[in-house]
Amino acid sequence: MKGKQLFAKKIAESTVGVLTEDEVLKRIELPKYQEQGDLAFPCFELAKVYKKNPASIATELATKTKSSYFSKVVSEGPYVNCFLNKKHVSKEVLAEILTKKEAYGSLTIGQGEKVTIDFSSPNIAKPFSMGHLRSTVIGNAYANILEKCGYKAIRINHLGDWGTQFGKLITAYHRWGNEQIVRQDPIKELLKLYVRFHEEAEVDSMLEVEGRLWFRKLEQGDKKALELWQWFREVSLEEFKGIYKLLNVTFDSYNGEAFYNDKMEDTIQLLKGERLLSTSQGAEVVTLEEHNLPPCLIQKSDGATLYATRDLTAAIYRHKKYQFAKSVYVVGQEQSLHFQQIFLVLRKLGFNWASQLEHLPFGFILQNGKKMSTRKGKVVLLENVLREAIAMAEKSIEEKNPTLQNKSKVAHDVGIGAIIFQDLKTEPQHSVEFSLETMLRFEGATGSYVQYTHARACSILRKSNRYKGNESLDGLADEPSWSVVKKLMDFSSKVQESYEQAKPSEIATYLLSLCREFNKYYAHCKILHEDNKLASRLALVECAAIVIKEGLRLLGMQAPSEM
Ligand code: ARG
Repeated sequence: MKGKQLFAKKIAESTVGVLTEDEVLKRIELPKYQEQGDLAFPCFELAKVYKKNPASIATELATKTKSSYFSKVVSEGPYVNCFLNKKHVSKEVLAEILTKKEAYGSLTIGQGEKVTIDFSSPNIAKPFSMGHLRSTVIGNAYANILEKCGYKAIRINHLGDWGTQFGKLITAYHRWGNEQIVRQDPIKELLKLYVRFHEEAEVDSMLEVEGRLWFRKLEQGDKKALELWQWFREVSLEEFKGIYKLLNVTFDSYNGEAFYNDKMEDTIQLLKGERLLSTSQGAEVVTLEEHNLPPCLIQKSDGATLYATRDLTAAIYRHKKYQFAKSVYVVGQEQSLHFQQIFLVLRKLGFNWASQLEHLPFGFILQNGKKMSTRKGKVVLLENVLREAIAMAEKSIEEKNPTLQNKSKVAHDVGIGAIIFQDLKTEPQHSVEFSLETMLRFEGATGSYVQYTHARACSILRKSNRYKGNESLDGLADEPSWSVVKKLMDFSSKVQESYEQAKPSEIATYLLSLCREFNKYYAHCKILHEDNKLASRLALVECAAIVIKEGLRLLGMQAPSEM
């Protein structure tokens, strides 16, 4: 049992049932100054329960808390401060990591239950936007974190492949489209057609009517309409898959909005049955006045369904199919109202699982402080951005380490990693500034810095050909080593926090601080010095490499062993 857990267990035992071990664990803090010990437990809450002052409870607990893993336990004001036995604890931590390897830090909170995670979800016939990149990167990391916590994550790409815009696109294609040209550069050409539709519709009102008609036909399964739609979908998906391949992201399902076309009637009937529908300006809506929200639009006057209708249907379908313990939507904060409405309508339908639905919103990607936009011709083609990052990484490797093996694979991992890390080190809700130059630096808070630290650890292990990884270990009690050990001990609580708060950024900032401690250790200890601690020091290097690599994996990044 690791130091913190053991300390929590002992304290909990002393409180005989007032606090459980888990509750104590959550309340344990890190003391402000190193001289105050490694762990601190505040006694304010117990003071209320026992109706005594916190300082005297701290003194009492301190004398009762004993173990060979603690070198001393003292009270300081209202706190019980614990000094871990560095030799003992570090030896144990190293042994645990070396045995569990990448399974170190895994939790069983999820107990194999399913969580559906709806992320990425771009719109077909439109460019993959920066917002979709954020959703992809955050969603993928969160799915990995869920799995690390013992859940089965079901990754769903809810493609935007249905809606009135496809009626417009079909109209535009019939009028001005050319198969050859579309085939050459599908998304770009389809976007052009779509933009032209809107320009011409300003002077030709028949276009809108025609567009609506085509969507009606599409919803009714008209063969010609379906064929074109199918083709638009295929060519778009092909381009998107190129991006997913670069990012190394996979999905369990590509069931997009269109998938729910034949299932929406049931939803509408259900809403009718519960008398939730009312007519407003010819459209069918669910009013949410009692929540001070605008009504949720279910069906237009011409019978066409909407984004919300499909999301309601999708939620019901997913619950039936997967019996999820939780269902997460990683979608930009500009859709918060939409998800509030959806969740409330499901609650009104009497589904108690509606409380298991969660919208995980995120902020914008900025460039020089301004929102990066895909609209109005200012299209930032994402695939080009990713390729540019790889090319820049390649150039930097060429300068710093021209004899490196596998250069192009490493450049790929570093370039893509830089983009992923830049996004994930920020809390999802905040905006992210996008600058390829800053992202690819080997110093500072970058993915390259973390990857580089991992490669450095691997290189030390390669140099020490005497290290086999099975030597009997000794504890490490010096400060630089102990600081690394303490970080390593923290890994599973960081995994838990990042899961509970739905913040992959917890893992990213943890990795940065672990790397900082590791680099201090590297600078201050002669790791390869031949003495009786050599094996232990190398074991610490290996353990750091294992945890950094696993942390990067959770974020969706690779850890090259040489850079
Ligand atoms: N396609 C939508 C968009 O690009 C995102 C879909 C998110 N998922 C969902 N179930 N609504 O804005």
